[in-house]
Order: sequence, then C-alpha cells, then structure tokens
Amino acid sequence: MFAARRAFTSALQTRAFSASARDLSKVTVLGAAGGIGQPLSLLLKLNPRVTDLALYDIRLAPGVAADISHINTKSKVTGYEPTPSGLDAALKGAEIVLIPAGVPRKPGMTRDDLFNTNASIVRDLAKAAAKSSPNANILVISNPVNSTVPIVAEVFKKAGVYNPKRLFGVTTLDVVRASRFVSELKGTDPVDENITVVGGHSGVTIVPLFSQSSHPDLVGNAALLKRVQFGGDEVVQAKDGAGSATLSMAMAGARFAESLLKAAQGQKGVIEPTFVESPLYKDQGIDFFASKVELGPNGAEKILEVGKLAPEEEKLLEACLADLKKGVSFVAQNP
Ligand code: NAD
Ligand code: LMR
Repeated sequence: MFAARRAFTSALQTRAFSASARDLSKVTVLGAAGGIGQPLSLLLKLNPRVTDLALYDIRLAPGVAADISHINTKSKVTGYEPTPSGLDAALKGAEIVLIPAGVPRKPGMTRDDLFNTNASIVRDLAKAAAKSSPNANILVISNPVNSTVPIVAEVFKKAGVYNPKRLFGVTTLDVVRASRFVSELKGTDPVDENITVVGGHSGVTIVPLFSQSSHPDLVGNAALLKRVQFGGDEVVQAKDGAGSATLSMAMAGARFAESLLKAAQGQKGVIEPTFVESPLYKDQGIDFFASKVELGPNGAEKILEVGKLAPEEEKLLEACLADLKKGVSFVAQNP
C-alpha cells in the first residue's frame, strides 16, 4: 500500500518535473526600469508561464528586480547592470526578449522624430541579442516600430542568425485600443470585441478592419478611426511632456508575450496581429507588414492574408502602404 503510494507520488513528481522542464521559459526585458519596462516586468512576474525573468536597463534594473522579486509567484527574477557581461547574461537562454528601451515622444513630435535616438539603442541591443540569444523571439516595442523592426532584422542578418519567424513588432496596443474604443461606442464588453488591425504602428499606417468585426456599420466612422490611428497622441498630450503610453502598453506587451508562450507550449489557434517580415506586399517593396499571424513553437507559423475589405478600408490600406514605402527609404537613408 505504502509502496504503491510511493510509486504514484514518484510518477507524479516525474510528470511534474518533465512538464516544468518542457515549460521552462526565460523572458528578458531590455529597458526594464522605464515607464513601460516596470509595469511590463510586474505583469510578467504574475504570469505563471514565465519561470525566469531577467531585467536589464542602463539604470536601476537591480532595484526593480529586487522589488519585483518579493512577489510570491514562482519565477526567479534577476536584475542586470549595463556591463557587456550583464547584458549577455540577461539574454542567455531567453525564449522571449522584449525591447521597450528608448525615448518616448513629447507633444508635437512624431514617432519618426525618435528614430535618431532609438535606432542606435535598438541596434546595439539587437547586436547583443544576436550574439547571446540568437534563437529567442524578439519583441520590439521601441518606436518608431515601423523602422526599429527592420533595424533588428539587418543586425541579425549581418550576424548570420536572422530568423524572420522570430522577429515581431508589437502592435498589440492598437488592437487593445480598437476593441476598447468600439466597446465604448457599442456598450459591449471589450474582451468580446476582436478587432483586426493591420499595417504598421503609426498614424495612417494603423488600419482597423471594422468590416471584419461584428460591427461592420463602424466602417466610415471618422471619429473612431482617428482615435484608433492617433490613440498614442491622446496619451502623449494628456501626459503633457512626461512621456507616452506606458501602462496600457505594458498590458499589451504582456498579452503578446503570453500568446507566444501559450503557442510555444502547444496551444493551437493562437492568433495575434503583429508587424513581421511578410510576403503580403513584398511586390510593392514593403518587407514588413502587420497582419494576423498564427503563433506556434517556431514563432510566426502562418501569416494570414488581410482578407476582404470594405471600399473605405481599401483606401485606408492604400494610404498605409504609401506611408510604409516612405519608411523603407527612411531606414535606407538613416542606417
Ligand atoms: P522611458 O523613457 O520611460 O523608458 C525607457 C527605458 O529605456 C529607460 O529606463 C532607459 O534607461 C532605458 N534605456 C535607454 N537606453 C537603453 C539601453 N541602451 N539599454 C537598455 N535600456 C535603455 O520610455 P517608455 O515610456 O518606457 O517608452 C519606451 C519606448 O517604447 C519608446 O520608444 C516609446 O515610443 C515606445 N512605445 C511603443 C509602443 C508600441 O505600441 N509599440 C507604445 C508605447 C511606447
Ligand atoms: C502609442 O501608440 O501609444 C505608442 O506608440 C507611443 C506613442 O508615441 O504614441
């Protein structure tokens, strides 16, 4: 009887061990002490799928890590200083690397105005990631996303480790905003609103597809469209010089990371719109485009077509593609 119970317990322990060994997930945040980095790290600490949380910043990361590490969830939290070995150690073994490092906008600025500062920050962090975590999923939050994502791709290509299935521009905040704004208009629960947003992550490149939602009547609603395309400006203006969206972005970044972890751990049908290297408009010279992507153990498993659009949305997509094309030459002129 005791022997039988011992055998059962040991079988359970073996199962628990093999499950946790399979599900070990190290997540690294670069820029972890910033406005996005701190709440994002907090949300990741609350995620039971994360087993090891590595926080890196050029300032304060050990302090943020010490603080978050007192939260009574299982994951181990470590903070890293801005030394080359600190950055490498933060990255080593990571399954997911989130990058919110960089400066945010102030009123009157566009996201492209951040390029000169953020491009080199992202480039240098990408170089470290290419060396120390070449197989990780890289989630770029730093703006301008339409340009910082191609920069990471170039760095990884140069290092000979580029895998387009593992590089994502995080556009989840546009999806989160769209569902929230629609629910405000329709009096619904925002979690039930699933609005696809395609294109890129700035102004007219943000294209919500209301025709594909349960509210096709919202196509042509100019005020709603403006809120979705320029939601970031609303926050920048309200913060009045103190930065841009941080808390909602942290939630959006944590949601995208959770989707990737779920998919990596075997859940099927996990689909998120995200800015990836995409075949959809390559013939027009556009290499990166956000559309719905099915996630899986290999990262971006399947890039879905944009699908049928309303005539108004066709026009929005044209404007989006024209703007994304400008972005291509912008990156080429500012390598
Ligand atoms: P922030 O200034 O509050 O924080 C940025 C952090 O990055 C700081 O802690 C800073 O020390 C750190 N940092 C700077 N250089 C670094 C480096 N080389 N290595 C590591 N860390 C470094 O800014 P924030 O509000 O957190 O915004 C960060 C970025 O995210 C901005 O570029 C902003 O535009 C962008 N953003 C993107 C989205 C999106 O939807 N993708 C949404 C909101 C903000
Ligand atoms: C956002 O959409 O809130 C972010 O891209 C930050 C910004 O500059 O608007």
